[in-house]
Amino acid sequence: MRIGVLRETVPGERRVALVPDAITKLVAAGHQITVQHGAGEAAGFLDAAYERAGATLVKDAAALCAGNPEIIVKVRKPSSAEAALLPKGSVLVALLTPGANEDLLPLLKERGLTALALELVPRISRAQSMDVLSSQSGVAGYKAVLLGASALDKFLPMLTTAAGSIAPAKAFILGAGVAGLQAIATARRLGAVVSAFDVRSAAGEQVRSLGAQFVEPAAKAEGTGGYARAQTDDEAAQNAAIIADHIKGQDLVVTTALIPGRKAPILVTDAMLASMRPGSVVLDLAAESGGNVEGSVAGESLVRNGVQLIGVANIAASVPLHASQMFSTNVRTLLTHLSGEGGALTINAADEITGPMLLLHNGAAPVKAS
Ligand code: NAI
Repeated sequence: MRIGVLRETVPGERRVALVPDAITKLVAAGHQITVQHGAGEAAGFLDAAYERAGATLVKDAAALCAGNPEIIVKVRKPSSAEAALLPKGSVLVALLTPGANEDLLPLLKERGLTALALELVPRISRAQSMDVLSSQSGVAGYKAVLLGASALDKFLPMLTTAAGSIAPAKAFILGAGVAGLQAIATARRLGAVVSAFDVRSAAGEQVRSLGAQFVEPAAKAEGTGGYARAQTDDEAAQNAAIIADHIKGQDLVVTTALIPGRKAPILVTDAMLASMRPGSVVLDLAAESGGNVEGSVAGESLVRNGVQLIGVANIAASVPLHASQMFSTNVRTLLTHLSGEGGALTINAADEITGPMLLLHNGAAPVKAS
């Protein structure tokens, strides 16, 4: 396959879709890779490393697209200007924000593109190594605790010193999925006393296995495919009472709760924030999906009643080297999946991994397998 790697253009996006190590493996498998100059620079992967890995470097997106790659990989969806350059009939693989790309899809349709949204990798064991939502959520959970720890007015660990004994800080994680579990593990490593809340039954065992306390929900809200479903008003009220009671004594709160395809649920209200100690810190990892905390704004840090509320935005990009390395493994595994007989690009809409990811197939709405 002829594969092109574009440089990211969204401000603050420091990740790259394929790192040199992945290029080495793809070249060894017989693929030809072209990389836009500087594509990996912000993540610490210089052009020379791509060249050593066997890629051809080109100066800009126009030159890359002029080389007619069959498949183009990116982290974030292309801008309109980039979309206008994509070779007709090619395949685009990126985070394409399904459900929020009405501006982009007509442009891709016009060019007869096939578009695969990385958010839609199905959650089946076979596709686990292609799941960028999982890999990037792990990065986010880790970094959120570090941000919280540095914003906090306290130590996280217990300390016994000549200047007195310090009690450990209390960290509370809401939503114990991939990001939440990594946040729990990180806060534990830093010495905090950690508790967590989730509405799925499986979460309880996972939280306890990490040595944290599970705050039992009053009402469970299990969805399908390992996800939560939206709560009814009654369930939400019952669970809010549990959270309100527990959050009062917490120093660091990280919220990660999401419902696929919907606005994130509000779990922390103004009244709950007001019940917390001034100086405590709340990080909302769901801020870009509507927020778990009343009034949080993605990319902004606010102080309310003395509590610092951080609305986190694209946090995985702030750990660009490892986030890119993991993203790249996901993309490389997907590319290997897409290379059929003799290594040729094969888009099979009936395939159990490719099918669900297809937003467009040769410029048209894909025919979904029944
Ligand atoms: P997610 O990002 O959609 O949600 C994060 C967490 O928020 C989930 O644990 C969810 O239960 C929780 N949540 C939603 N509403 C809530 C509420 N009202 N109150 C409290 N918590 C709430 O989910 P994520 O983290 O991407 O995955 C969830 C689960 O899916 C994982 O723990 C795992 O079991 C499964 N999974 C399976 C994969 C596979 O088989 N390939 C890959 C990744 C995850």
